[in-house]
Amino acid sequence: MGVQLYDIKIKEITKETEDCVSLTFDIPNDLKNEFNFFSGQYLTIENKINGENVRRAYSLCSTPDEGIHKVAIKKIKDGVFSSYANDILKKGDLLRVMKPMGNFILNTDINNSNNYIFYAAGSGITPILSMIKSVLLNEPKSSATLFYGNKGFSSIIFREELESLKNKYLEQFRMVHVFSKENIGNTIQQGRINREKNDAFLKTFLKNEDIDGVYLCGPESMIKEVSESFKNHGVNKEKIHFELFTSSSSQKKSTNKSTKQKSFDSLVTIQIDGDSFDLEMKSDGDNILDLAQKNGADLPFACKGGVCCTCKAKVLKGKVSMEVNYALDADEVEDGYVLTCQSHPQTKEVLISFDD
Ligand code: FES
Repeated sequence: MGVQLYDIKIKEITKETEDCVSLTFDIPNDLKNEFNFFSGQYLTIENKINGENVRRAYSLCSTPDEGIHKVAIKKIKDGVFSSYANDILKKGDLLRVMKPMGNFILNTDINNSNNYIFYAAGSGITPILSMIKSVLLNEPKSSATLFYGNKGFSSIIFREELESLKNKYLEQFRMVHVFSKENIGNTIQQGRINREKNDAFLKTFLKNEDIDGVYLCGPESMIKEVSESFKNHGVNKEKIHFELFTSSSSQKKSTNKSTKQKSFDSLVTIQIDGDSFDLEMKSDGDNILDLAQKNGADLPFACKGGVCCTCKAKVLKGKVSMEVNYALDADEVEDGYVLTCQSHPQTKEVLISFDD
């Protein structure tokens, strides 16, 4: 699977909050199949900003049933793309967009009778909103609870849409807001969503409930602590799904394991779109994606933080180690898939394919 960015027109821009806009794309008819998606997936978007190509991944907040492709972009401090989207982009502008991707998926089935628990913090709501809508639209016997963390009332993205879902699906959907900077009169809805908070949710809102699926999107601390809280309460880890929310390409990285070993030279062969090229690498130098790009290769990527999996490829020969991996599940790693933006060669020869 090579890189394919399409010029896609912005059909609609809506100001969702003071610092967040949503973009709806006008997908041409001949790309409709290519742009089919599952709730929870994201779009990789690129644009030239101040002379530089800037690429980011944004989760779709619409559902496949709605037939639209919509993402929300919250303006973050020093965020090049998010500022551009909030301040400059307008209806009718063209952006370069990749087809939907991502492993954070909720597949619905009309026969399901599941109890889903969703967690979102800030703009982590985007894939979660898509999932909730899919459940409500397609699983009449299932129920959904959303715990949604924000600074306060005015920073809730999609507030009206969520409220109207709550009113429309009274029996199926409940929503609990948690505010870090506003007091709404009770302690359980105050602060941040963490382990302690989730322990409290389990004793109150979720008391005696069987839980079939937990879906989280937000910062690493929320994901880690809520997951631990569920595991301590006997919820099987297979039922817990998450996507790390990242607002920029500057993810903090853990130490590359290869730096602990003696540095050595490696010949990395990369296959893409039926073609191949070689890279001479140091085991403790740049990661595979960065070095390939420095050498002029056009490889797929978005976050460069080990989060989105756009840069996924399969190791066919040799070994690599990843600095971090927030995107691939254990089965994919077992099958040899790696995130090239996090990968360093661990053998003198490596063959890696974007086509498998
Ligand atoms: S580019 Fe997102 S995980 Fe590598």
